[in-house]
Amino acid sequence: MNDILNAIKQSAIEIKELIETGDTGKSENQNATGDTQLKLDIACDVILEKLFAKVPSIKAIVSEEQEEIVELNKDGKYLIAYDPLDGSSLVDVNLSVGSIFGIYENDFTGNNIVASVYVVFGPRVEMVVAQDDVKLYRLLKGKFEFIQNIVLKEKGNLNAPGSTQNCWAPHHKAMIDDIFNDGYRLRYSGGMVPDLHQILLKGGGLFSYPGTSDKPKGKLRQLFEVFPFAYTYEKAGGQASDGFKRLLEIKTSHIHDTSPCFFGSNSEINRVLKVYKEHA
Ligand code: AHG
Ligand code: MN
Ligand code: MN
Repeated sequence: MNDILNAIKQSAIEIKELIETGDTGKSENQNATGDTQLKLDIACDVILEKLFAKVPSIKAIVSEEQEEIVELNKDGKYLIAYDPLDGSSLVDVNLSVGSIFGIYENDFTGNNIVASVYVVFGPRVEMVVAQDDVKLYRLLKGKFEFIQNIVLKEKGNLNAPGSTQNCWAPHHKAMIDDIFNDGYRLRYSGGMVPDLHQILLKGGGLFSYPGTSDKPKGKLRQLFEVFPFAYTYEKAGGQASDGFKRLLEIKTSHIHDTSPCFFGSNSEINRVLKVYKEHA
C-alpha cells in the first residue's frame, strides 16, 4: 500500500504544477459519461497512469476519463479506480479541485474497497488517507507531512446541497429547506472534494447529490467518486447513504455507474434516511 501512496504523492506534485501552468481549454474528446474532457483532465490522467504503471502491487486501474479497465500486473493485489481531476472546470475560475482514489481488492465493488485517498488542490495541497482511520497530510516544502486525524462530530452545521434545484423531488426540497431552517449554513463550491473536505474538517454537516427528475441515478460516479468518499466518511465516524442504504452496499453493474449520494455526520444522515423512508 505504501508504494501506492507514494505514487499518489508524486502525482499530486506533478498535478499541482499542471494546474498552475496548464491549458484549461477543452479538448475534442468526450469521456465515457459524455462530458467534454478538458486538456487538463487528459494530462492528469496521463500522469497517473504513468506513475501507477510502475507499481508492482497494482493489478489493474480504471479512470473516470477512460472507457475500460487497464490491466497492469497479473500478480498485483490492488485495483485502483480514480478521478484524476474532479471539478476540473473550476480551475479557470481558480476554485479548489481534487484527485480521488478508491483502492479495491478482488473486484471494483463497494464492499471490496479497502482504502481511499483524496488530494485537494486549494491554497494548500492536502492529502487525506482513509484506512483504519482517517489521516490528513499537507504538502510542505515538497513533502507530505502528517497533520492530524480526522473525526466527525455527531452533528454539524454545514449544508452542501448539490444538483439542479428545479429537478429535485418535493420531499428532497422540503428536507433541504428544513435543514436550513434549523440554522445550517450553505457551503457549496461545486467541487465535491473541497466541499466534502470542508465538512470533514469543520466537524460535520451534510453533502447531498440526489437522484433528480433529469438524472434519477444522480451524477456522481460510484467507483471514482461515491465509494471512495463513502469509505472516508464511515472511517471518520460518519455515514454515507443513497437515501435508503449504505452506499458501500450498492451493486455496480458497470464501471461508470452513478448513484444518488448523501455524506455526513450521523445526525444528518439519520435525518435523510427518515425523510427518504417516508417517501419511498
Ligand atoms: P467532474 O469530475 O466532471 O469535474 O465532476 C464534478 C462533480 C463534483 O465535484 C461536484 O460535486 C459536482 O460535479 C457538481 O455538479 P453540479 O454542478 O451539477 O452541482
Ligand atoms: Mn469527478
Ligand atoms: Mn473528473
